[in-house]
Amino acid sequence: AKIALITGGFTGEAEVSLKSAAFVAQKLDTKRFDVYKIILTKHSWHYIDESGIEHEIDRKNFTLSLPDKVIAFDLAFIMLHGSPGEDGKLQGYLDMVGLKYTSCDTLTSALTMNKAYTKLLLQDVKNLHLAKSICLLDNNKEGQFAIFAQLKLPYFVKPNGGGSSIGMTKVNKREELVTALERAFNTENANKQVLIEEFVTGREFSIGVYRSSKGLEVLPATEVITSREFFDFEAKYTPGLTEEITPADLTSEEQERIKGIVKDVYVTLNCKGLVRIDFFLEKDSNKFYFIEINTIPGQTEQSFIPQQVRATGMNETDFYSELITQALI
Ligand code: DAL
Ligand code: MG
Repeated sequence: AKIALITGGFTGEAEVSLKSAAFVAQKLDTKRFDVYKIILTKHSWHYIDESGIEHEIDRKNFTLSLPDKVIAFDLAFIMLHGSPGEDGKLQGYLDMVGLKYTSCDTLTSALTMNKAYTKLLLQDVKNLHLAKSICLLDNNKEGQFAIFAQLKLPYFVKPNGGGSSIGMTKVNKREELVTALERAFNTENANKQVLIEEFVTGREFSIGVYRSSKGLEVLPATEVITSREFFDFEAKYTPGLTEEITPADLTSEEQERIKGIVKDVYVTLNCKGLVRIDFFLEKDSNKFYFIEINTIPGQTEQSFIPQQVRATGMNETDFYSELITQALI
């Protein structure tokens, strides 16, 4: 099959996307698949050949014209975090040109890019808890009053349509809120809204889940222990700043509970392919709190998904072949 490995993108996560795509490209089974890495920027959609020459994609039908042939792809393997690969725009385009892809559909991608909407949809998932939050559509005084009146400090302040913790601040004192809101509103953000959430004290976990020929497979959980105030962009992508334990040390009851939650979230949101869901396990109540879902989870050398795949005993090449096989059905 001919695969377009689509990467790049229009946000601060583009750099992470390129690293994820470089990792995946190394792992794809090149005996089975012809892989072309296609980079999307605001100005061009292109493939770079072995001599470093850029070839533009024909956007009418997503074909690639090379000097000796025209490539019509069988599948798009989307490895683009943030817009336009994780927020449904690319999925909508691919639906229109009739090309299959490896991710959630347009609607699920767009909805899950909005953290506040996602929480609304997950209210009834068994055993899943949601931190109290307020979503602001713009930066105003009334919003700040509402936050102080309704939420307990500390808060997490984050772009409601962002990723990789870019533009996010932990607010410990009231006087830090204004700067945190400004920072989040000034960050590239798919829906220009800002989510303020009560901080949950406890351990942090991240879990991948995907559909295989045998059904829904939940990967082993990773526990994140960071020496920083929270698992921010630096902690995410600087080796050594965070301790990551896969499989996480959870009791068998906790493992069963989290597995059930992960499957319910996947089904409730009508996910496709591989997604990753992040949680806190609250210290006193031992309840799992939802942080967010990533429909294009990071797959750099440092990311959780490769660690989780390896922890199952599978190698990444077989894992990606399975994702591709499922997406081609
Ligand atoms: N948004 C980043 C890439 C992640 O969730 O892994
Ligand atoms: Mg994320």
